[in-house]
Order: sequence, then structure tokens, then C-alpha cells
Amino acid sequence: MAERGEMKRILVTGAVGQIGSELTVALRQRYGGENVVAAGHRTKPSASLCEGGPFEYLDVTCREALLAVVDKYRIDTIFHLAAILSAVGEEKPHLAWDVNLHGLYNVLEVARERQLTRVFCPSSIAVFGPKTPRDHTPQETILCPTTMYGVTKAAGEMLCNYYVQRFGVDVRGARYPGIISSETLPGGGTTDYAVAIFYEAIAHKRYTCFVREDTVLPMMYMPDCIKSAIDLMEADFSRLRHHADFNITAMSFSAGELAAEIKKHIPEFVCEYQPDFRQAIADSWPRSIDDRAAREEWGWEPAYDLASMTADMIDKLSKRHSEGRLYPEDRKTCG
Ligand code: SER
Repeated sequence: MAERGEMKRILVTGAVGQIGSELTVALRQRYGGENVVAAGHRTKPSASLCEGGPFEYLDVTCREALLAVVDKYRIDTIFHLAAILSAVGEEKPHLAWDVNLHGLYNVLEVARERQLTRVFCPSSIAVFGPKTPRDHTPQETILCPTTMYGVTKAAGEMLCNYYVQRFGVDVRGARYPGIISSETLPGGGTTDYAVAIFYEAIAHKRYTCFVREDTVLPMMYMPDCIKSAIDLMEADFSRLRHHADFNITAMSFSAGELAAEIKKHIPEFVCEYQPDFRQAIADSWPRSIDDRAAREEWGWEPAYDLASMTADMIDKLSKRHSEGRLYPEDRKTCG
């Protein structure tokens, strides 16, 4: 392997999405606003996203467009977050294949051709399936997903690892659990209920959850998600035995336990359960994750658990609600 360079000029694809909107801000604080280019596809970016540094509209399935942005800004690092999530992926499997795999292939090819320093591509608990052990799911285990999203993420991990071995491209990624956040709503995943429940509890004191009360999934709060992406990308390459497929988690709880935790803050809150097609997706995923490889190889350690995450979410959303700007659409967008 050649000497690894530093990350100086960063492109974030999917920057308008749930993770991208907050990761871009964190990267800009760390590396300088002008050095972090945010790229979105269709959704209008928030004012804060385009005021803090460059913004480009970009379709990652178009290799020429991607290459043009990389060359224009002399990008050396890509955080590739553009993807179709699990629930939308079941409704539009062909689109999920195209965006998640064709898009990733383009990113990896551009990274190879332009000899980029590093690429980050998040994977997901969706790489696992009904044949995978569901408790303390091991790092090395059966990858037999039953969703198109999972198929693209499992294949994507393998493709990334192939680019590391075959071409020496430094690609890194973790298998994220459900991500809970207060800034941008998630865009069509199975774990979205764990975010929606907070908005509805604050706005209406009621929520109808689309998975059963006893559904347990691994989860993580956004500050830990951001920290993990940056820590993994800044880790010493020589310490990594895995690359694009690190198991990672922060907490596991059932939908009922989450509702009970919210009730501690909002006693009138009532949660009902009406499972839909997303129940089967949730049932095919692990309940908890063994993330020792991430802890050992790059020092992963989450800060938030169910109680501290819930208290922080309610604090942030209550403040926004009292200012009349709870939902993202209540806030200013760009241009
Ligand atoms: N949060 C994602 C989803 O539900 C999992 O990676 O699709």
C-alpha cells in the first residue's frame, strides 16, 4: 500500500439526507467550510447547508457529472451517503439497485482513476437476513439479506473491500443501525419510526407505530453516528483489518421501550401499533450487534444510550416546537 495522504478537499454525496445534513456541518467545522462540498440530488438544501460552503446538484448514477465535481473542486475524499433506504427500496427495487450500486461503482471508479485519498460508504444492518443470528450478531456471519436495500448494501460492502484489495483504494464503512436524529427526517427506511415517534409525541402526544411493540432493533443517536464516521475515516490504515463492513451499534430497544422512555418526559403520550410491510423487514434484521472489531481496530465507543438520547431529542424538538419550526419544512431552504 502507498503512503496514505490527508483528507483536505471533501465531497459529501447525499448531503441533504438524514446523515449528510449533519455530517456536512461537522466536517465543515473540522476541515473548513470551503473544503467540504455538499452534493444533493433533488431535495432543496437547507439554508445552513448552502451558506456554510459549496453546494452542487449531483446525480451519482452519472459518472461524468461526478467526475466533473471531483475535478472542479480538486476533491481527494468522498463521503458517499447518497442511497435509497429499505422501505423505499422495496417499493422501487430497480431504483435502489441503480442508485445504491451503480452510484457506488461510479464513486469507486472515480476514486481509482483520480487516486483519491479515501472514500467513506456507510453500510447497514440490512446486510443481514433471517438466517443470520439475531442477537449479538457477529462481525463475520451469514449475509443473506431479503430486501433490495440489503442486497445492494451487502454487494456494496464486497465491492468496496474488493477495491481496497485489488486497486489499493482506501474505502471505509460501518454497518449502521437505525439512526435517530433531530435535524433532518430519515428518507424512507424501516427504522424511521424511532424518529417519527418523537415528532408526533411532541406535536400531537400520539403516535401510530408501523412495527409491533415488541420489535427490537439496534439504534444509534446522530452525534455518535457523526463521531463514528469521522473517527473511522481518521483511523490509522495499518490498524484496520476490516474496511467497509464494520459492525457498529450504540443501543437496542423495543418500540414499546422507546415509547415508555418518551412517556417519562411526556406523561400524556399514547403510542398505538399498526404494523405494515415494514414489520417483515424489521423481523429480518438483528436485535443487537457485536461491534468488538470496530472497538478494537479504531476505538469505537458510543456516548448515548436510550435515556440520554431520548432526553436530548425531546429537549431539542421541544425548543423548536415552541418556536414554530418543529418540522424541517417549517425551516428556511436555499435560494
Ligand atoms: N435505517 C435504515 C433503514 O431502515 C437501515 O440502514 O433502511
